Amino acid sequence: MLKNKGNFFVLETAHTSMLIRAGETRAEYLYYGDKIGDFTGTELLEAEEEACGLSLFSPWGGTDFREPSILVRSAEGGAACDFRLKSARIAKRECAEELPCSYGEEKCVRLEYFDGVQKLKLILQLTAYADCDAVCVNASLVNAGKKPVYLERFASVQAEVWGKDFSLITYDGGWASERQRHAHKLDLGKCENASFTGTSSNRHNPFVMLAREGEAYGVNLVYSGNHREAAEADDSGRTRLIAGINPFSFSWELNAGETFHAPEGVLVYGKSEEEVSLRMRRFVSRHIVRGKWKEKERPVLVNNWEGTYFDFTRERILDIAKKAAEAGAELFVLDDGWFGKRDSDRCSLGDWVDYAQKTGGIESLADEIRAMGLKFGIWVEPEMISEDSDLYRKHPEYAMKIPKREPVRMRYQLMLNLADPQVQGYVFRAVSRVITATKAEYVKWDHNRMMTDCFDKNTRGGEYYHRYILGLYSVFRKLVERFPKVLFEGCASGGDRFDLGILSYMPQIWTSDNTDARDRIRIQAGTAAAYPQSTMGAHVSAVPNHQTGNRNSLEARFLVACGGLLGYESDLTKATEEELSAIKKQIAFYKEHRMLLQFGEYHALGDAFGGEWAGYLTVSEDKSSAFAVVIVSEYRLGRSNVRAKFAGLDEKAYYRVSLRSPSGDWKEVCTAYGELLVKGSVSLGGIFGDTNVAENSNPVFPRAYLFEKCAAPKKKQS
Ligand code: DGJ
Repeated sequence: MLKNKGNFFVLETAHTSMLIRAGETRAEYLYYGDKIGDFTGTELLEAEEEACGLSLFSPWGGTDFREPSILVRSAEGGAACDFRLKSARIAKRECAEELPCSYGEEKCVRLEYFDGVQKLKLILQLTAYADCDAVCVNASLVNAGKKPVYLERFASVQAEVWGKDFSLITYDGGWASERQRHAHKLDLGKCENASFTGTSSNRHNPFVMLAREGEAYGVNLVYSGNHREAAEADDSGRTRLIAGINPFSFSWELNAGETFHAPEGVLVYGKSEEEVSLRMRRFVSRHIVRGKWKEKERPVLVNNWEGTYFDFTRERILDIAKKAAEAGAELFVLDDGWFGKRDSDRCSLGDWVDYAQKTGGIESLADEIRAMGLKFGIWVEPEMISEDSDLYRKHPEYAMKIPKREPVRMRYQLMLNLADPQVQGYVFRAVSRVITATKAEYVKWDHNRMMTDCFDKNTRGGEYYHRYILGLYSVFRKLVERFPKVLFEGCASGGDRFDLGILSYMPQIWTSDNTDARDRIRIQAGTAAAYPQSTMGAHVSAVPNHQTGNRNSLEARFLVACGGLLGYESDLTKATEEELSAIKKQIAFYKEHRMLLQFGEYHALGDAFGGEWAGYLTVSEDKSSAFAVVIVSEYRLGRSNVRAKFAGLDEKAYYRVSLRSPSGDWKEVCTAYGELLVKGSVSLGGIFGDTNVAENSNPVFPRAYLFEKCAAPKKKQS
């Protein structure tokens, strides 16, 4: 809800308030935190001088020498800006057409500023999402002058808070080790989190938090390209956090009359990191994910990638699909290798035509799979081009290359120059043809390299990265408009592009190529810090695990995968009868509880980044049922005293507690009071007794619980 009284604006959500004071020439944050019912006495929050308060943005050029959020250079070369507040009001929200944007609120607080020398208009729109305690910021810059100006940095959002003892929490890693939580104590210093790969990256996710005991501020970007978040604590007693497009290799020419829109920034406050994560996840489910698949049950899939890699025939695919159907899966995904002459990763990207000698005809293959009662899904990697491809032979100019320079190849491939509208058109048509021909109901959109050799003859160098992303979004927009029923799954070498930009078009993303249960606990916990489980692809794969060599029980692999969107990724024809019947039982359980598992309120349990156990609990909206998985990651001889707490349950209710056996059966254990389960340390029992340590290598030890609300037990008559 938005309130305005005189110079004061309150953005109120269910649990938070943000108070902004619009002064003579500037606006400042007076308060952002837990909800305050009445702001009488606001003057006590005001700074003695305007410049000493908490600012919403910070242009370079004044006496503020901290990390600036805006740097605009004039045609003559000067780079100072002094934006004066011209108007502040509650207004209709306007979103840029070329960028993804959150949705669900019509009104915003609109602040308009003007720099009289550079003739620049700065517009900030702040939108409050009451149901998930998020505030979104849309910033844009209009060149109202007669000459071009050059944006060298234009961050999306700036948060400023009192205090200098915060840590910047980041989610970092690399291929197969995405989004590991790290805390960087600021200590009057500066810390940056940034991507230079052209993607939001597996190295540093754009989601970060500023946190200290008792308070945390989360920031994310609705963006998929190079980003940068910088936090600085300084001696003035304030900490600043800015987030936006990475200014590295960014310089945008803004001509007279033109507007530049920064990607949307998202702010969430909470009393703890957990609370911020909970609110962020709600925000993503309700105001980012959209279309037919929003809050709609996702199919259990079987993907052939790790089962066959490139080495498959039509018969082998049909055999796997048959097993998938028997096991109760609902979607079969044909991964890489079905097109051009693709028998390895050295060729054919760009030739999105059937490799008929291999598939025996992709259209009839899809039909046969559908005849088994499965949906058919297909893999594509449309932003790429192999030099050994008909597309490259015909259109070498489509490839991203710098003239006269040998391009960098990664996985033997080049990228397509999506900054060029002609190439965008080609990609849209190629993917549309694949979907139409195969009648695919699911598309996995992959992207397996980083961006180098950025060049387009019609694009200024400093604009390339962003223009590429705008080109990508324009293709996505057209595709989801044309195929509104198709379930798109984003993927980039696993989780190299897990961000709110992708999720605005594709409701789910392949979390990581690392499917080892041990590693996945951490990867999924880090991902869930900002993204709900309904966005995370999670597959059960073969043992020994192809990435790590670890062996884990089928049960452990399943219970970890239940923390996301369940799939199986192995050659099911090689599974034993016993394994197949266990898989069948697993899928049946997952389907029965699918709404709870995919869309329940997710709570992280334990500590995935260093604790001896971690897990998750997902609880239905009315808290009547919950499912929890606890994974102990270290085996210590003779240990059986690991204990867990079950955050998220209704503390004032009784629950029937059932424990899952290693064979997938449930046994009622007792009735327990919610508060006891949340606050008490619940014994996990003989955790090591039921996992055969000798059979596995580097295993983890799972426990799964179901909680169902029930009546209070009758008191025994004495
Ligand atoms: C990378 C993806 O993450 C994998 O799941 C698989 O689709 C391969 N690419 C195929 O090349």
